[in-house]
Amino acid sequence: MRIGVLASGRGSNLQSLIEAWQEGKIPAEIVAVGSDHAEAQALTRAEKADIPHHAFPLKDYSSRIEQEQAILTWLKESRIELLVLAGFMRVLSPDFLKALNCPVLNIHPALLPSFPGLHAQRQALEYGVKVSGCTVHFVDEGLDSGPIILQEAVPVEPGDTEEILTERILKVEHKLYPEAVRLVINKLIEERNGGKRE
Ligand code: GAR
Repeated sequence: MRIGVLASGRGSNLQSLIEAWQEGKIPAEIVAVGSDHAEAQALTRAEKADIPHHAFPLKDYSSRIEQEQAILTWLKESRIELLVLAGFMRVLSPDFLKALNCPVLNIHPALLPSFPGLHAQRQALEYGVKVSGCTVHFVDEGLDSGPIILQEAVPVEPGDTEEILTERILKVEHKLYPEAVRLVINKLIEERNGGKRE
């Protein structure tokens, strides 16, 4: 099973996936890491792990559509069978999803459907919830929507700042995402083998 990852920034979730894969916890290979930011730390992490990686900065393209097309072509050439979004801060177009034609996963730092979009942790603090968390879901054409695979609650403590809550949720993300990817891959392998585990 060939996995592609898209990440816009720090790439700590990518790192947790790389480590899970290297430790044999994910029965698949990460074969491509792409980013919409040339300076994304995620690309450095891919480089260190010897994973083919590529930057697609918007300035190199005449439009967002062209940029997305370039990402699509590259992922297709990499023959990925599962796309994992790890802090990829762009919404993929319906045309992209249709043409890619493989499952796409995303992780979001809130208990969806609460607090979709940017700054989920800030939204949670501003609302005053006592529990937040993170969600791994299949990507559909909406913003942080699509069928939920795994969720885990994280308490909001009195005096939490956005940074503190972000850090507490991130620790859980690093455990939840590899587990969700493992579950999805096992299911895909099972389907490919007509119901049998490989
Ligand atoms: C993570 O907290 C992830 O859940 C969030 O971006 C961060 C990326 O961190 N994603 C979203 O908000 C998507 N809507 P990372 O680059 O260190 O993995």
